[in-house]
Amino acid sequence: MKRMKKLEVGILGATGMVGQRLASLLENHPWFELAWLGASDRSAGKTYAQACNWRLEHPMPTAARDLTVHECVPDGKAPQLLFASLDGKVAAEVEGAFARAGHAVVSNSSFYRMEPDVPLVIPEVNPDHLMLVRSQRRERNWNGMIVTNPNYTTVGLAMSLAPIERGFGLDKVMMTSMQAVSGAGYPGVPTLDILGNVIPHIGGEEEKVERETQKLLGILSDGGVQPGRFAVSAQCNRVMVENGHTETVSVALRRKASREDLLAAWREFMPAPEVHRLPSAPGRPVVLRDEADRPQPRFDVNTEHGMAAVIGRLRPCPVLDFKYVVLSHNTIRGAAGAALLNAELMKAEGYLD
Ligand SMILES: NC(=O)c1ccc[n+]([C@@H]2O[C@H](COP(=O)([O-])OP(=O)(O)OC[C@H]3O[C@@H](n4cnc5c(N)ncnc54)[C@H](OP(=O)(O)O)[C@@H]3O)[C@@H](O)[C@H]2O)c1
Repeated sequence: MKRMKKLEVGILGATGMVGQRLASLLENHPWFELAWLGASDRSAGKTYAQACNWRLEHPMPTAARDLTVHECVPDGKAPQLLFASLDGKVAAEVEGAFARAGHAVVSNSSFYRMEPDVPLVIPEVNPDHLMLVRSQRRERNWNGMIVTNPNYTTVGLAMSLAPIERGFGLDKVMMTSMQAVSGAGYPGVPTLDILGNVIPHIGGEEEKVERETQKLLGILSDGGVQPGRFAVSAQCNRVMVENGHTETVSVALRRKASREDLLAAWREFMPAPEVHRLPSAPGRPVVLRDEADRPQPRFDVNTEHGMAAVIGRLRPCPVLDFKYVVLSHNTIRGAAGAALLNAELMKAEGYLD
């Protein structure tokens, strides 16, 4: 059988927490080959092995070790498809420069997510929003494009809400998060701030979750997205967990539903076949646990290779209608895996031809 030639790809911000996850997920990827790495001028000129303080549990991919790290400047040498996991302070400028120069940038950072012409995509939830890149390229006069994945706290919430919104309509959503320290990058939160502690503030996070959830569950219309017609209230906390954001959620529905109706909606939630076939798509995007004390990050964070939203503890809510717990892996489903799945969808749908 004739083998498809792999598409060369690069990573902007390759040395960080998310960049490392990307390098790891790209090892032996059936469609993409990691060929180019970019980071700050502190890392540029070194090999990846020299520049990177590798923090993942499995070894650095052999093929990446000797790649040279470049400055993040569009000089015509980087591949067309670039994953971006840059420090938020430089992401807007660097991603914009590469998109203008003709690159397809699949971004993890927040700057462009809420721009009306920038797709904010979870392939299992709103793959049709990818279409926004057509008007983006036309109106911005870009040869390239920017496609974004949501904030790591939004992703599990939106995956858990999508079947509820479709089946019964959402009216109100209240969410309280318990977010892992790896979400703050490396070296992240100082030990003396987080050890034996809970920090009830993560700058800008609550506003991001509230707005992004409405955009993700919104309807594509007139070259933009009509946001979902439900209110979201988020409270975000940093806790002493290594990986995995846990969220407690209460929802009020527009149409009456039983507990069994909600469980069936989650069980039956499957993406379109073309999304389900993508190499990084989880077998089941939503996984239900029926034990009274699950999901827990220690046991459940790697469910479906870290790509599932794991849901449990569905019960009536005396204030709204129902409440439950959802867990997702912040650097995989919330960042690197999400970007990879978006890029696979872009390739499958012909956006990279
Ligand atoms: N961690 C998560 O769970 C998570 C989840 C979703 C989204 N995100 C977002 O993803 C992005 C990366 O997060 P992270 O946790 O991986 O951060 P990180 O560990 O701090 O890594 C930041 C990366 O940006 C590079 N960088 C810094 N300044 C630069 C400059 N002036 N020019 C070019 N590159 C520069 C760093 O390179 P050097 O090593 O050379 O400094 C490093 O590769 C952020 O926007 C974050 O909000 C993170």
